[in-house]
Amino acid sequence: MRIELPARLQAVTDYVPPGKTVADIGTDHALLPVYLVAWGVSPRVIGVEKAPGPLEVARQAVAGSDLGEFIEIRAGDGLKPISPGEAEVLVLAGMGGRNIAAILGAAPEVLETVETLVLQPQEPVAPARRWLVENGFRIAAENLVLDAGRLYPVIQAVRGRSEPLDELLLEVGPVLVAGKHPFLRRYLALIRARYEKMLNGLGKSGREELDERQAAAGARLEQLEALEKCL
Ligand SMILES: C[S@@+](CC[C@H](N)C(=O)[O-])C[C@H]1O[C@@H](n2cnc3c(N)ncnc32)[C@H](O)[C@@H]1O
Repeated sequence: MRIELPARLQAVTDYVPPGKTVADIGTDHALLPVYLVAWGVSPRVIGVEKAPGPLEVARQAVAGSDLGEFIEIRAGDGLKPISPGEAEVLVLAGMGGRNIAAILGAAPEVLETVETLVLQPQEPVAPARRWLVENGFRIAAENLVLDAGRLYPVIQAVRGRSEPLDELLLEVGPVLVAGKHPFLRRYLALIRARYEKMLNGLGKSGREELDERQAAAGARLEQLEALEKCL
């Protein structure tokens, strides 16, 4: 069976340890479950999807794959359809970092038996990393993937104590920085451009709350420039 994954999802599969039961939360098209089972990476995958349209697409994809014996698509919100002990690996990809943190935080009893988390957060990314380091996970590996001209972070986290991470590293990625990832300069330039745009948009308001946001964005911009100089 030939399944082409976009580079972003291919990079997610690189961080899925073989031989484990996986739950793919927000599975959408179910490309990931079908790939993981078809290539023998995972013996069993549960895909969870809350939106009716993607749910139907996922069910059809699994039915068409002939792998329905090993892949189950469940309707529901986040980790609610997963029972404690059912999955050893959780994948949450293509969702905002805040949504990922909220999903993980809502189901401590499911997380208790999970060994590995593979996250591919969309902006803002920092809340996903913050959740990991504050909830007994350590960031073991990170990648930056170029897919259709855009850069995507991919994170593998395992159980363990994390070093405290400052806001800059939560946003950029501690392992990407430590390993001086080849796309890091490009990634930092993109983050910097976002802060510059924010600063331009905020202007001088005279309102305390906006002025605080402006000061914080200015400070982050300086940190990003300093980090770029160290590379
Ligand atoms: C942009 S798609 C990403 C799909 C796939 N994971 C990927 O990376 O290509 C996000 C999917 O997550 C689903 N989703 C978002 N929040 C969810 C939640 N709390 N529970 C279940 N599914 C969710 C959305 O309905 C959507 O289908």
